[in-house]
Parts: sequence; structure tokens; C-alpha cells
Amino acid sequence: MDAASLARYDHIRPIRWTGDALELLDQRKLPFAVEYARCTNSDEVATAIRELTVRGAPAIGISAGWGVVLAAREIEAANGAEAASRLQPALERLDAARPTAVNLAWALARMRAALHVAGADWRNALEREARAIETEDLAANRAMGQAGASLIAPGSGVLTHCNTGSLATAGFGTALGVIRAGVAGERIARVFAGETRPWNQGARLTVWELQQDGIDATLIADAAASHLMKTGQVQWVVVGADRICANGDTANKIGTYQLALSAKHHGVKFMVVAPSTTVDLATPSGDAIEIELRDPAELLGHAGRRTVADGAQAWNPVFDVPPHELIAALVTERGVITQPDAPALRAVFGKPDAH
Ligand code: MRU
Repeated sequence: MDAASLARYDHIRPIRWTGDALELLDQRKLPFAVEYARCTNSDEVATAIRELTVRGAPAIGISAGWGVVLAAREIEAANGAEAASRLQPALERLDAARPTAVNLAWALARMRAALHVAGADWRNALEREARAIETEDLAANRAMGQAGASLIAPGSGVLTHCNTGSLATAGFGTALGVIRAGVAGERIARVFAGETRPWNQGARLTVWELQQDGIDATLIADAAASHLMKTGQVQWVVVGADRICANGDTANKIGTYQLALSAKHHGVKFMVVAPSTTVDLATPSGDAIEIELRDPAELLGHAGRRTVADGAQAWNPVFDVPPHELIAALVTERGVITQPDAPALRAVFGKPDAH
């Protein structure tokens, strides 16, 4: 698939650096208002991450990188090491914004590392690093799109979950990148999107995002997924990831675990698509991942209106962790791992990237 064909399916950019502010396509307002929220300091970026103005593991990491650039405007330092220590409180506030997606901590560690080798030119070094994180993410997504799509037989149907597209990344997307490339290469004939309760990333974001590129997605209730698989309409479930552990266990949006279980039962293949920035060899298995709990109000109402009896309680974990045994293929920009497990991950990610 050449670059021009892929570009046809790649229109949205959720993160814009203007030179003095970070503009984020406000995902709380989509699909009916396309508005950018403007952040002029790092705490506004942290709030935007916490409140889901920007969301999706890679997009959170990229935004945090630019957040550090903004934090740098508020301090003076003679060199990078001095700047690193002055910026530490701002970095910690950014890091605390959301716990599960490792891309946030990864991006902040990378910004910190850039500072430690920078001299008097540390402000420019930070800006270059934030830009590099963003550019590398886009390149990784395009590579993963091709690699993942090549696993899918022509004429297949796919089901995806949450939003893993341009909105969740620098552009093109992870699982949605595979879907874009698979549609462009005429391998994918049918796309289904789960609505992804309670925040409805699938219903509000994925369906809209694919529409922008002229790709029709059929929305299903999350609860319809097993029936969809049973009726033979999908051959792959294709999802993104928020943290991939050393043994291949993979945190992703709540509901992913039951999709993986159901896919196994129905002989549907389960593909995880994520850049290497989502791989976390320091977390041995899924049991060690902190699962974000969000406000029960997300479940107790809809669009700001209460729908559940007063006094009712709700439990709102927003990620779950399919164990690696349920994953048929893990696609990163470093290639495809089939049946991922600890030795396979160590072989690919246990050493620095050659690129
Ligand atoms: O709570 P969210 O919307 O940030 O959760 C996003 C997901 O779970 C995505 O599937 C994941 O971050 C991958 S995005 C390319």
C-alpha cells in the first residue's frame, strides 16, 4: 500500500502545537462539536488528560511531552540537569493525571532523559524531543497498519473496541490504523465498532472518525459482541492497548477482556495493536497493573442526566487485562508476535530498538 493511498484514510490530527500553546481536539464534545481546547501551561495539560479532553494511550503521552515544554516556560535554569530538578513537580502532576496507560510515564521519562543530556540549549532540546515523540508515533502507526492488515484475509469482518484511531494517537491510529490499511487494501469488508460503555468512545468517537475517512462502521451494543461473533460476521477482533506487560498480558479499555474470551470461544482471532512505547517490561504480568477507577457518575447517568435511581451505587473500573494466552497476534512497529509470551517479548523488546 503506497503512502498516497493510506493518506486518503488519514485526515484527523487531535494534537496541535502552535509554538506557544497546545491545542487538543476536545473529545468530550465530539461528535457534534469539533473544537480545540487550548492549554497554555502544564497543569492545564494534566487536567485535559484527567478529564479526557485528550485520551488514548499514545495521545496522552504526546500531550504530556508538550506539557513539559509548557512547564519549561515557567522556570529558569542554566542547563538541562538543573531544569530537570526544577521541573520535577510539574512532571509529577502530569504523571498523576491517569495511572494505567504506560505511555504517559514513558513520555515523561523520555523528556527527563533528554534534559539530562542537554546543556544550555535545554529548552530547544525539550521541544525537539516532544516533536520526535509525536512524529515517531505517527510513523509507528503507519507501519503497524500495514503489518496488522497483512494478517487479515480478504473479505473479512472485524470488530474493534474503544477508540484507537487518529484521535488516540498522533494520527492514523493503532487498531484503527490496521482497519484503515485493511480497508484501503480491500482485506476488510465489514467494520463493527462496540459502543464502549460507559464513556462511549466507540459510539461517539470511532464511528465519527471512520466516517471522516469514508469508512462505514456498524455500531453494536457492547453486549452484542458474542452474538456478532457467533453469527460469523467477524473473523478478527482488533484492539489497542494501554500497557503490555513483560509476559504479554495487555491492559485495554474495559470490555476488552470479555471480547478476548468470547473470541477464543468462537474461533475469532484476537489482535492487539500498539507501539513499542506501550510495552512495559518492568510490569511482569497483568496482576501488577493499576486499573483506573473513575467516577461512578459516568455509569449513573448519560450525557449529564441521571438515569439510575438516587442512592444507587456503581463500580467503574475503566480498563481490564486480557491474559496473553487469549492474544493471537501482537502488532508493534517492530513486527508481529504471534501467541505473545514472556520469551517472545523479551526477544523483541529486551534490547534497544535498532532504528
Ligand atoms: O480511557 P481511554 O479512552 O483513554 O482508553 C483508551 C483505550 O483503552 C485505547 O484502546 C488505548 O489507549 C489504545 S489507543 C491507541
